[in-house]
Amino acid sequence: MKFFIDTANLAQIKEANDLGILDGVTTNPSLMAKEGVKGNDAIMNHYKTICEMVDGDISAEVFSTDFDGIVTEGKKLAAIHPNIVVKVPMIKDGVKAIKWFTDNGIKTNCTLVFSAGQAILAAKAGAKYVSPFIGRIDDTNWDGVELIAQIAHIYSLQGFETEILAASIRSSLHIVKCAEAGADVCTCPLDSILGLLKHPLTDIGLAKFLEDAKKM
Ligand code: E4P
Repeated sequence: MKFFIDTANLAQIKEANDLGILDGVTTNPSLMAKEGVKGNDAIMNHYKTICEMVDGDISAEVFSTDFDGIVTEGKKLAAIHPNIVVKVPMIKDGVKAIKWFTDNGIKTNCTLVFSAGQAILAAKAGAKYVSPFIGRIDDTNWDGVELIAQIAHIYSLQGFETEILAASIRSSLHIVKCAEAGADVCTCPLDSILGLLKHPLTDIGLAKFLEDAKKM
């Protein structure tokens, strides 16, 4: 399973990348706004900086919701760097645009996916990634991880090549459960990645080893 970091914060991207386990980055308009990135030039430069920092797929989301707008915007984003993946919402014109991008050699990430039916459409249109938002599903008292397992089952049965990118991760346990359920990628906040390191027995065991090492 690949690890992406789900942020537009450059310091956090650097910290995850320095760990040596980072395969890519996902952003969205909310994450870009959180970093105070405003205006077209600043947005383009921010994506360029991320692409230069991380050697892997970098998702950049379109703001348009009509076919022509999505295609125009997506072409500009894709021109920033070969690793840019155009992130397109799961709407009718979005599906149409994903097919256009697929036919024109531009990688896409179909976002805001909340059902297996939507995931089938994204795969049919040729999306490189499909992003089910598992945390937001959990918020509605459904099990987001179950959706990952259902999509993984369908894709494997039908031979779809679209990669399942588990998004809206809220905890380290989510990452483990998504790995079990067959996600190809998990995009996670830095805290959830670092949380995987933690176990009290590791801390206790290390303290004892360090204490005994002094006796050597
Ligand atoms: C990433 O691709 C998604 O935009 C992101 O994971 C959504 O996360 P949230 O539900 O925490 O906003």
